[in-house]
Formats: sequence, C-alpha cells, structure tokens
Amino acid sequence: MTETATREFTTVGVIGLGTMGAGIAEVFARNGFAVIGVEQNDVGLERGRQHLEHSTGRAVKREKMTREQADELLGRITLTTDMQDLAGADLVVEAVVESLEVKKSIFRALDDIVRPDAVLATNTSSLSVTEISTANAKPGRVVGVHFFNPAPVQNLVEIIRTVVTEPDVLADVQELLRSLGKNPVVCGDKAGFIANTLLFGYLNHAVAMYEGKYASREDIDAAMRFGCGYPMGPLALLDLIGLDTAYEILDTMYKQGRDRLHAPAPILKQYVTAGLLGRKSGRGFYTYE
Ligand code: CAA
Ligand code: NAD
Repeated sequence: MTETATREFTTVGVIGLGTMGAGIAEVFARNGFAVIGVEQNDVGLERGRQHLEHSTGRAVKREKMTREQADELLGRITLTTDMQDLAGADLVVEAVVESLEVKKSIFRALDDIVRPDAVLATNTSSLSVTEISTANAKPGRVVGVHFFNPAPVQNLVEIIRTVVTEPDVLADVQELLRSLGKNPVVCGDKAGFIANTLLFGYLNHAVAMYEGKYASREDIDAAMRFGCGYPMGPLALLDLIGLDTAYEILDTMYKQGRDRLHAPAPILKQYVTAGLLGRKSGRGFYTYE
C-alpha cells in the first residue's frame, strides 16, 4: 500500500462488548486511545465490564502490568448504552452478533451519529462487508477489520476491502493497526476471508467426528495439540469462539459455497438451541466454572 495515512485517530467506538468487543476495547485502551464501548442494555454492559476487569486483572496477577496501569487502561474506556455517545469517534468498530440484519441496522443508524470523515469498521467473521456497507450513506468509509480471538493476544487482523472502500481508509486503518502492534493482512470480501476459509472446514470436521462417536472430545483435541502442535484442540477452540458464532460462520460459508465441508454439523445447532454456547455460557463441548 503506497498511500500515506491522512487521519489521526484518538477516540475509538466499539459496539458490542462480548467475546470480541471487550478484547478489542482493551487493545485500543492499552494503546492510549479513548474508547467508547456501547452495549444494547445494562446486562450486556455489566458483562462487558466484567470481561475487561477479568482480563486486566489477570494481566496484573501475571505481572504484565501494574494495578495502576490497569486502572488507567480501564479509565480510558467509557461504557454506555447510547449510540449517540459515538458522535466524537474517529473510528467505530462494530462487534455485535454475527447477524446481517443487526449489523446493517447499526451501520444505518451511525449515519446520523458520527462525523462524515469517521471510519466505520465491522469485525464480522463471514458476512459480506459490501452488503453491510450499503446500509451506510458513505460505503467508501466502511472496511472489515477482523480481529482474532482473544483480541489482546492474537496479532493477526484481516482487513477486508470492498470494491468501494476508499484507498485512504484502507491505508489509515493499516497504519493504525500496525501502531497497535498488530500484523494486518488485506483481502477481498468473500465469506470466511483468509483464515476462517482455511480453519472452519477443519473445525466442522472435528465436530462431525465427535458427533459420529469416532473418538472422545479429549482424544480429538489431544490429537491436534500433541500431534500437530496446535495451541488448542478444535473442540476447545470452538468453545472459545462461541458455538452460536461458529454456527453462524459455518452457515454463511455453506450458503455461499454449498460445499459439504461447511454444512454445519447437526449437533452444533442442537447445542446452540439448548443454550450450550461454549465458554461464554459456561458449557459447550466442555464445562467451565
Ligand atoms: N483475554 C486476554 N488475554 C488472554 C486471554 C483473553 N481471553 N486468554 C489468554 N490470554 C493471555 C494470558 O493472559 C497470557 O498472557 P501472558 O503470556 O502475557 O501472561 C497468554 O494469553 C497465554 O494464556 P494462558 O497461559 O492462560 O493460556 P495458553 O498459553 O493456553 O493460551 C490462548 C491461551 C491464547 C487462547 C491459546 O490457547 C491460543 O492461542 N489458542 C488458539 C486461539 C485461536 O486459534 N484463535 C483464533 C480463533 S478463530 C478467530 O478468532 C476468527 C473468527 O472469526 C472466529
Ligand atoms: P458475542 O455473542 O460474544 O457478543 C456480541 C455482543 O454484542 C453481546 O454482548 C451483545 O449483547 C452485543 N449486541 C448485540 N446487539 C447489539 C446492539 N444492537 N448494540 C450493541 N451491542 C449489541 O459475539 P462475539 O463472539 O464477540 O462476536 C462478535 C462479532 O465478532 C461477530 O461478528 C463475530 O462473527 C466476530 N468474531 C468473533 C470471533 C470469535 O472467536 N468469537 C472472532 C473474530 C470475529
């Protein structure tokens, strides 16, 4: 990318403070940005606050930061249920549930809230960034910024450019992500982008293997950890991602390609329907405290 950065980002809005949004808010606050975290209600806000406190508390315990630094970091994050509070944001990162309808309604609403030069990013894993962007009056300022889970730990961020993303928006976002210590890669707008296209067929296959009672969950996970050196087995990773989110990602990828590899394994839907969403609900393939 030859464009040079044109924008200065100081205030970042994050919409949705779940598994990803809370981590993304932490990343920006850790790097000195003022963060405005938006949730849909007080319950979501409280969950987001607890996530942030837990994550920074762990860093303090591990002596990665002092209590004072953690308090400063948390002090840079304002929590709200009112999207109007995003009026002063230079960048908004949307990280709500993987639903096209919900995301489009947010990008539509942002038109009347943020400045015309503010950049709008979606953290979608698989939905069409182009389609999300059309909900906004200025689709040229919309870009996919796909952080990986856990956002404070994983260095990769996929930047998804649509056919109308302005080159200066792309350049500015790339430079911003590098300044956060992230390693951005750029790709086009196709369900799954780079990493999930390669990852989710494998994860779905592991679920089918478990569902077919071919091997226990522990042995499936152990095979990939100790045989292939993956940091986590596929079923434990699905619990980390969230089974509802994983189901939506697979379903979108399946609908785009109609390939059997991504047809969600039936048990995944059953788990989601039963409220077994993985770590975030306390139970998925494994049980958590
Ligand atoms: N938030 C913040 N920090 C976290 C964290 C979290 N949720 N989970 C772990 N960490 C930090 C720990 O504090 C620790 O930090 P330090 O080294 O600075 O002390 C570090 O990560 C390692 O943690 P642990 O020692 O507790 O555990 P671990 O070594 O087993 O690592 C892991 C945990 C980072 C999750 C690791 O197992 C891992 O990388 N797993 C694979 C994750 C992965 O594949 N992510 C991609 C999922 S796909 C995706 O994100 C895209 C999508 O669209 C679905
Ligand atoms: P999540 O279910 O953990 O969190 C979503 C949050 O959005 C919830 O806290 C919910 O209350 C909130 N929310 C819903 N509607 C809202 C609204 N209108 N306004 C404000 N907040 C709202 O989901 P997640 O796993 O954090 O996923 C968020 C996005 O990030 C999805 O697009 C997902 O595909 C993507 N993503 C997820 C992962 C992952 O591993 N979980 C990784 C990368 C990207």
